[in-house]
Amino acid sequence: MLPLASLVLLSSLHWTAVLAADNGLAITPQMGWNTWNHFGCDISEDTILSAAQAILASNLTDFGYEYVIMDDCWHAPSRDNQTGAPVADPSKFPNGIKDLSDKIHAMGLKFGIYSDAGTYTCGGRFGSLGYEEIDAKTYAEWGVDYLKYDNCYNEGLSGTPHISHERYANMSRALNATGRPILYSMCNWGEDGPWNFAQNIANSWRISGDIMDNFDRYDDRCPCTSVIDCKLPGFHCAMTRIIDFAAPVGQKAGPGHWNDLDMLEIGNGGMTFDEYVTHFSMWSILKSPLILGNDVTDMTNETLTIITNKAIIDINQDAAGSPANRMWKRSVDEGGDLSLWAGSLVNNTFVFTLLNTSPAEQTVQVDFADVFFDQGKTYQTQPYEVFDLWQKDDEGTWGKSIGIIQGSMNVTIGVHQTKVWKAVPAPQTSTRRDYAEL
Ligand SMILES: *[C@@H]1O[C@H](CO)[C@@H](O)[C@H](O)[C@H]1NC(C)=O
Ligand SMILES: *[C@@H]1O[C@H](CO)[C@@H](O)[C@H](O)[C@H]1NC(C)=O
Ligand SMILES: *[C@@H]1O[C@H](CO)[C@@H](O)[C@H](O)[C@H]1NC(C)=O
Ligand SMILES: *[C@@H]1O[C@H](CO)[C@@H](O)[C@H](O)[C@H]1NC(C)=O
Ligand SMILES: *[C@@H]1O[C@H](CO)[C@@H](O)[C@H](O)[C@H]1NC(C)=O
Ligand SMILES: *[C@@H]1O[C@H](CO)[C@@H](O)[C@H](O)[C@H]1NC(C)=O
Ligand SMILES: *[C@@H]1O[C@H](CO)[C@@H](O)[C@H](O)[C@H]1NC(C)=O
Repeated sequence: MLPLASLVLLSSLHWTAVLAADNGLAITPQMGWNTWNHFGCDISEDTILSAAQAILASNLTDFGYEYVIMDDCWHAPSRDNQTGAPVADPSKFPNGIKDLSDKIHAMGLKFGIYSDAGTYTCGGRFGSLGYEEIDAKTYAEWGVDYLKYDNCYNEGLSGTPHISHERYANMSRALNATGRPILYSMCNWGEDGPWNFAQNIANSWRISGDIMDNFDRYDDRCPCTSVIDCKLPGFHCAMTRIIDFAAPVGQKAGPGHWNDLDMLEIGNGGMTFDEYVTHFSMWSILKSPLILGNDVTDMTNETLTIITNKAIIDINQDAAGSPANRMWKRSVDEGGDLSLWAGSLVNNTFVFTLLNTSPAEQTVQVDFADVFFDQGKTYQTQPYEVFDLWQKDDEGTWGKSIGIIQGSMNVTIGVHQTKVWKAVPAPQTSTRRDYAEL
């Protein structure tokens, strides 16, 4: 039982009314850019405005990137000591946050901010625990469209899904009470299984400790082997470890509430071209938010090529909102493994992906009995037109037809490479789903 005083306080926060997932946002996974992975705490008004200008100049908005998110360390040393309202660092943000967000909006972009469901942020600035209402109200007045909400210094208010839910729901209610639709991106590192408790309060939730710009290096600071019941999410999680973490929780995501595999590292220099293709492909098919984390004012053609593959982005933004599932995973002699992933798209079309984390080229037979395991025998045996989404067609459009294929296909896949195909049932074939076969 809660003490009476708490009940009074809770009712003043509109206890019954609110679901952040009801804010109408993130119907497909959110896309944008965030300061943290490249700039860390070294940010200012100029960092953010320069990035926004670069996003426009490189036409990233045409591909769906819209949120410009200011991560940790925007804060003044303390809150306003009269009102308790949050205050920005006056030297880094001489014109204030409202002015910055007005400028971002004038460019046709949306503006995001960062805070923490604890006493301090991870960078040691003032946190929002106990200040949810005034912080949400201030963000709304500043024109904020997106909140990334971290989990450092949480005073031990975790350990059960209920406690974590209450702490994160307080900010969800406060955001809703502002009347401004603000995308709520929970960053509680998968603690207490947000895929089970956050669907009604948040638009996305991180599933693991922080990503590291590395393909597969094991690091003791990211010690868990699975995110189910992980007690120390940590950080320095290699990219492919996060893919492993994500495999079982896809079933919990959908329109308005997504598994967040963390911000992208593409362009930050720690991985090869093929490894970054793997990163972008897997984040896309698993329906993670696609939040760039590189310096967009200084991008190589390779980076731009990867992050503007429209066919891959279309998979991420597909209206069915259905994360792909891992159909099998096989160890290979050289170390690492091969895995096959498959997912449903709108209009009776499908995506499937082969991932090679081993240090050697592999030749693999991909059986449609595995790709269409969930759909039954008709789907497993009928022919498909198959498109390779990392090849361009004759017009230069991503997604080249590799022919009509039935039953299986043999694929050669390079070191750390991912191939992504779209399958469209070939004309004049039955697309009837026969439940008796399942
Ligand atoms: C607040 O929650 C209500 C009820 O779930 C919903 O209808 C409304 O759109 C939400 N408003 C905002 C601004 O998120
Ligand atoms: C952006 O799009 C405009 C208009 O289509 C085009 O003229 C320009 O070259 C594009 N810029 C880049 C960097 O692709
Ligand atoms: C309150 O904040 C003002 C302005 O930042 C500062 O000058 C003053 O010393 C603060 N007062 C206290 C009691 O901390
Ligand atoms: C949620 O907010 C209520 C009302 O302010 C407060 O009593 C409660 O302790 C908060 N819960 C958590 C877990 O922060
Ligand atoms: C990048 O692409 C542009 C336009 O296609 C081209 O002019 C330029 O030479 C390329 N730069 C590099 C380093 O490949
Ligand atoms: C799905 O089919 C409808 C109706 O033919 C069409 O308008 C729509 O563009 C299709 N969507 C995709 C993603 O192909
Ligand atoms: C794939 O390779 C296997 C083994 O070499 C062979 O038996 C099979 O016929 C090949 N399938 C196709 C579709 O080429």
